Amino acid sequence: MELNQQSDWVARSLRSVWHPCTQMQHHETVPLIPVSRGQGVWLYDHQGKRYLDAISSWWVNLFGHANPRINAALKQQLDTLEHAMLAGFTHEPVIELSEKLSALTGHVLGHSFYASDGASAVEIALKMSFHSWRNRGHSAKQEFVCLKGSYHGETIGALAVTDVALFKDAYGPLLRASQTVMSPDARQATEGETAADVARRAAADVERLFIEKSDRIAAIIIEPLVQCATGMAMHDPLYLQLVRELCNRYSVHLILDEIAVGCGRTGTFFACEQADIWPDFLCLSKGISGGYLPLSLVLTRDEIYQAFYSSDVTRGFLHSHSYTGNPLACRAALATLQIFEEDDVLRTNRIKADRLTAALQPLAQHDKVRNFRQRGMIWAFDAIDATPDFSRRFFATAVEHELLMRPIGASVYMMPPYVLSDEEIDTLANNTLAVFNQVMAG
Ligand SMILES: Cc1ncc(COP(=O)(O)O)c(C=O)c1O
Repeated sequence: MELNQQSDWVARSLRSVWHPCTQMQHHETVPLIPVSRGQGVWLYDHQGKRYLDAISSWWVNLFGHANPRINAALKQQLDTLEHAMLAGFTHEPVIELSEKLSALTGHVLGHSFYASDGASAVEIALKMSFHSWRNRGHSAKQEFVCLKGSYHGETIGALAVTDVALFKDAYGPLLRASQTVMSPDARQATEGETAADVARRAAADVERLFIEKSDRIAAIIIEPLVQCATGMAMHDPLYLQLVRELCNRYSVHLILDEIAVGCGRTGTFFACEQADIWPDFLCLSKGISGGYLPLSLVLTRDEIYQAFYSSDVTRGFLHSHSYTGNPLACRAALATLQIFEEDDVLRTNRIKADRLTAALQPLAQHDKVRNFRQRGMIWAFDAIDATPDFSRRFFATAVEHELLMRPIGASVYMMPPYVLSDEEIDTLANNTLAVFNQVMAG
């Protein structure tokens, strides 16, 4: 396609599309890239220029763009049933998916409630927690606890348990107050402290709050192992074990938001498996549909489900969304889970992760880099002396080097699709180093 046609797409988009998480004026200097197609880890623009999707298009894509197996499953589903409402009706894809997810939790979390995006799953978990306490006669339990730097989505309820000033401050007057406790971010370790020591300190902060007011707290919400949107802040699994014990002792629900870290991203299918615990509510979205269609869900325990089971309609969980349990999205999720089973994905990811970690050593050792870190298929490092516009300049420079990357502040991260070849791993590492050097050189 001609350059002027590509420019035409940009002009039309900027006139009519209000892009997410964007100060639109920045597009006067930052490029907007019209994507024409995707294949594997690559996205292509209308001129055929390619970009390695190093952040899996906002952390959703697991097995590459236009994956033949997911495509085939969707095409078949499209000719069978595209959508049917889930109240009063049910269908094979949603039943099979719920059964498979239950099995993946050893049937501890045997009930799945569906929605479309991550923030809605968070809203559901918060509402279910509060309502289940109320149904059990504990209506004073109305408050929620979140971690410093936490991110759980941007609808009003989810934003209330988010602690990122950039997203939250403007809407302060609209939001319900929540309690914020210390993050277990291992980067806070003082001289001689280990990540486990930081985890213990952070858990002690939770206990302080629970001692003071657990009778008014419904739940604590945590993104396990990696607080992604705050800049890939990683913590020791011990923290999750300690908080699980505290939740048991003080009768507070544990909500784990695995929207970004679930589906193998941290090395196990669910991040909480590394701490050998299960929450009361587990939120899943993003990768569960392979990055194809909006799908989210909340998995919960039988005792929560039983708190709503009654002849009284108002004791039921009456929440709904029009596309709840959409068959196409569920089919994409089933095809995704099938790839996990057939390809031994968690094992092959470990081999890929070792290779990328090795290839990234020049960055890990770079004199302008600190806190190089990795867990599963997530890598991150912090730039020393980054300018305030570091992230935007990095994005623009990365695009020139065939990379799609969007640092969070001064934290550069990679969360690629799992289907990277060895050659693509080397390209990702080498080009990231080149981009970093160019940006740091100003
Ligand atoms: C941990 C976490 N929770 C919730 C959300 C919100 O998901 P969505 O953007 O689909 O509403 C996100 C999105 O990035 C997330 O990373």
